[in-house]
Amino acid sequence: MMAPMEGVVDWVMRDTLTSIGGIDQCVTEFIRVTQYLHSEIVFHKFCPELRMGSKTRFGTPVFVQLLGGHAEPLAMNAERAAKLGAAGIDLNFGCPAKTVNRHDGGASLLKCPDRVLGIVKAVRAAVPAETPVTVKIRLGFDDPSACLENALAAEEGGAQWLTVHCRTKTDGYRPPAYWDWMPKIREKTKIPLVANGEIWTREDFLRCQEVTGCDMFMIGRGALANPFIFREIQGAATRTSSWQEVGALVPGFFAACTDHINDHFATSRTKQWLKSLALGHAEAKEVFNQVKTHKKPTEFRSALEKALS
Ligand SMILES: Cc1cc2nc3c(=O)[nH]c(=O)nc-3n(C[C@H](O)[C@H](O)[C@H](O)COP(=O)(O)O)c2cc1C
Repeated sequence: MMAPMEGVVDWVMRDTLTSIGGIDQCVTEFIRVTQYLHSEIVFHKFCPELRMGSKTRFGTPVFVQLLGGHAEPLAMNAERAAKLGAAGIDLNFGCPAKTVNRHDGGASLLKCPDRVLGIVKAVRAAVPAETPVTVKIRLGFDDPSACLENALAAEEGGAQWLTVHCRTKTDGYRPPAYWDWMPKIREKTKIPLVANGEIWTREDFLRCQEVTGCDMFMIGRGALANPFIFREIQGAATRTSSWQEVGALVPGFFAACTDHINDHFATSRTKQWLKSLALGHAEAKEVFNQVKTHKKPTEFRSALEKALS
C-alpha cells in the first residue's frame, strides 16, 4: 500500500505512482474533521478519484482518510464519504502535528484507547457494511506499549485492518522503526496488520517481513525516493530501477500538476519530489540543483527538460 502523506501524496502523485504498478491500495491525505460536516466539494478535492469509482486511473482503490477526535462528526463525514462512493474509510490516529494534537486529534488519542474504540465503532456503524473501515496508528504517543490496547480497540470497534507506523509520536520520524511490536500485537488480537515504517529498499522489506510476520505493508517516503520499489518487492522488476526510468516520470508529473492544479504548485511540487528522488538516485540531486532557482513555470519547464536530457 502507498502511505497517505499530507502535502505530498495528492491525486496527481497517486496517479503517477500507480501508473507503475505494484501498489494494491492508496489512502488520501487526511481530511481534518472538527464538529462540522464537510461539503462534497471538500471530499472531491482530496479524492477526485471518487468520480472514478474511488480508484486511480490504473484501477488502484483509494480510501478516504479522516482525522479528528470526536465520534459523531467523524461518523457523519464518513457517511458522506461512503455515499460519494469511497472505497473505504481510514481513520488516522497517528498524526504527530502539534496543531492537530493540540486540537485533540491524531496521535494524542493513542493515550485514550476507549476514545479510539468509540470513534471506530461510531464510524463503522455509520457506513454500509460493504465499506471497509480501517485504522492507522503509531505505536503510542510516548509509550510504545500503548499499541496493544489501541489495537484491541480497533478490533473491537470493527476495523477491517490496522496499519501500524512502528514508532511513537515522540520518536517522530527518527530511525529505526520498531517492527518487533507487530508480533506482540498479533499475540493479543486477530485484526489483520499492515506494517509501516522505514522500508526504503527490497532488503528492508524482506527484513520487515521476517520481523513482523505480516503479509501487508505500507510504504511512504521509500516510494517517493524510488517509485519502482513496489514492483521490485513483487519481483516484477528484476533489478533496481535506473535513473532513466525514474527521471522519465518527472516531466509527466510536472505537466499533470500544471494542467490540473496550477503552474506555481507544479513548480514547487516537482522540486519537492526531486528532493525525495535524490534519496534514491544521486542524479536527481543534479537535476534539482539545476532547476531549484527557477520560479517562473516556463523557465522551470525548460530548465527541467535540459537537466533531464
Ligand atoms: C510529509 C508526510 C506527510 C504525512 N501525512 C500523513 C497523513 O496525511 N496521514 C497519515 O496517516 N500519515 C501521514 N504520514 C505518515 C506516513 O503515512 C507513514 O506512516 C510514515 O511516513 C512512515 O512510513 P515511511 O517510513 O514508509 O515513510 C505522513 C508522513 C510524512 C513524511
